[in-house]
Amino acid sequence: MEIRHAHLYDYPKYYDLVYGSDWKAEFDFLEDCFEQYTPRVVRRLFEPACGTGRLLYRFGKAGYEVAGLDLNPQMVDFCNQRLKRHQLSESAFVGDMSDFRLKKKCDAAFNTINSFRHLATQEQALGHLRSMAAAIAKGGLYVLGLHLTPTAVPPMEEESWAARRGNLAVLSRLWVAEHNRRRRYERVGMSFDVYTPSEQFRIVDETKFRTYTAPQMRELLAAVPEFEIAAIHDFSYDTAAEVIVTAATEDVIYVLRRV
Ligand SMILES: C[S@@+](CC[C@H](N)C(=O)[O-])C[C@H]1O[C@@H](n2cnc3c(N)ncnc32)[C@H](O)[C@@H]1O
Repeated sequence: MEIRHAHLYDYPKYYDLVYGSDWKAEFDFLEDCFEQYTPRVVRRLFEPACGTGRLLYRFGKAGYEVAGLDLNPQMVDFCNQRLKRHQLSESAFVGDMSDFRLKKKCDAAFNTINSFRHLATQEQALGHLRSMAAAIAKGGLYVLGLHLTPTAVPPMEEESWAARRGNLAVLSRLWVAEHNRRRRYERVGMSFDVYTPSEQFRIVDETKFRTYTAPQMRELLAAVPEFEIAAIHDFSYDTAAEVIVTAATEDVIYVLRRV
């Protein structure tokens, strides 16, 4: 198979095919959070690192006012085209989630699948949480999902997904190429095997994710007193099931409330 070295996020169409179908559980979970954890009536939503807008446009169609930000112009373009196709305003914009300002505060924000770990340093992570605190109205929520690095059990090292739509099929793989605990990063290989009637090729990329043990995450959140932890859940997306974070915990979704 032909190998192309490129950035996967420059291929929103393939990204969205693989991850876009998996939205319902997150969508319902987020709505449950809006009902249970904030006294606000949630109308305005914001997603930092919104990517293709796979969740954002669904919320837009459900009547919420939505906006998103992403570093990658191709993702933003894809997201805005999609919003437009659904008669929604093209409200995604290019920006860096470690340092941004919103013109209008939102009632709730979400960032569900590890995008936060793209922020490479403590300064960027803090900058992000402070930007989020400034962007969210008092009592509003920031729902933040990520994989912690467990210290009591070996972390998960590989994942794969496949999806097909019409003549296009994509197989996605993620694998940990290096885990540096001391310097707190994971080098993660990522590939898309793309199958179309006329060609087949593999796009290979590598990205760095910052790592967080449970105490490192606790320390980070404690440094931003504008947020309190309203609840902690996991990727089972069930608000009835709260999680107690231990040294073996991997998937976590922090429901942060703006105080
Ligand atoms: C795993 S994708 C998630 C997209 C979307 N949130 C979703 O749930 O499908 C990660 C996204 O984070 C974006 N990203 C990475 N670093 C960023 C930064 N500093 N500011 C804004 N977006 C960033 C990437 O461009 C990419 O679109």
